[in-house]
Amino acid sequence: MEVINLKDFHLTAIEHANDPRNMGPLKEFNGHARITGPCGDTMEFWLEVQDGKIKKASFITDGCGSSIASGSMTTCLAAGKTIGEAKSISQKNVLDALEGLPEESQHCALLAANALKAACDDYMKKQK
Ligand code: FES
Repeated sequence: MEVINLKDFHLTAIEHANDPRNMGPLKEFNGHARITGPCGDTMEFWLEVQDGKIKKASFITDGCGSSIASGSMTTCLAAGKTIGEAKSISQKNVLDALEGLPEESQHCALLAANALKAACDDYMKKQK
């Protein structure tokens, strides 16, 4: 089993892993997606979009602490953004906001950014 060394994590990432924001499905939502990453972990995102802006974003994951921190931070970054802005939130934006993750955990931030993008696409599809 891989041993996670906490000293490799910044406080922001540890804080979001221990006390994740916006975790759990939204009751009212108009965008949703579930993505499984190459590591086999799954992340699910819900969006409530109102007047063209993300009013609320939430997530769940069965992944590691880094994926919980990434999902949590990504919901925080998405809140208040337009769909276009949210779609352009990148793995790097998530990593920067978390003050970085150890190299072996950086794909967790990509999974979160991709799950958000997929939920935005789902919202767009439903508008048509
Ligand atoms: S190890 Fe796969 S999302 Fe974290």
